[in-house]
Amino acid sequence: MKFFIDSADLKELRDLADTGLVDGVTTNPSLIAKSGRNMLDVIKEICAVVTGPVSAEVTATDHATMLAEGRKLAKLAPNVAVKVPLTPDGLKTCKALSNEGTKVNVTLCFSAAQAILAAKAGAAFISPFVGRLDDVGTDGMALIADICRIYAAYPAIKTEVLVASVRHPIHVVEAAKLGAHVATLPPNVLRQMYNHPLTDKGLAAFLADWQKTGQSILG
Ligand code: G3P
Repeated sequence: MKFFIDSADLKELRDLADTGLVDGVTTNPSLIAKSGRNMLDVIKEICAVVTGPVSAEVTATDHATMLAEGRKLAKLAPNVAVKVPLTPDGLKTCKALSNEGTKVNVTLCFSAAQAILAAKAGAAFISPFVGRLDDVGTDGMALIADICRIYAAYPAIKTEVLVASVRHPIHVVEAAKLGAHVATLPPNVLRQMYNHPLTDKGLAAFLADWQKTGQSILG
């Protein structure tokens, strides 16, 4: 499973890229607004931090303007993936950009029917939002199961399932069990994934016993 980081905070992204576990980055207009910075500058800088895909989202809602925005974003760096919303104009733009060789991430997916359309439009990634579905009393992970099953039934589909709106490590584990290709993690979720109290307790006991030996591996 690939890990993307769902953030436009350069400091966080640099710290997490340092773990060696980060395969890409996703942003959205809300995350760009939170960064307080110019979108084009931020995307260029993020693209230099990770080698994998960096999703940059268009903000127009009509096809012609989305296409122009997408083309401009794609020119920022070779690893930009243009993000478009799952609307008729968004999917038309997805098809056009994909035909030009640009990777497209189709976002705001909340149903299996929408995911089928995105695959037909040539999306490189489909982003179903599990947390936001859970928030309204629907099982977000059931949608991931449906999409993974449908895509697996058609080997010609190359669209990767990118689990978005992830809220906690259990979302990541459940998505991995289903074979989802990617999870985009808020920085705190990646950090939480390392933690287990028995790891801390076990390490403290090993180190206490080691100290008693008076040895040092490096001499
Ligand atoms: O980038 C899309 C997605 O991950 C948003 O997550 O937490 O705002 O629902 P959230």
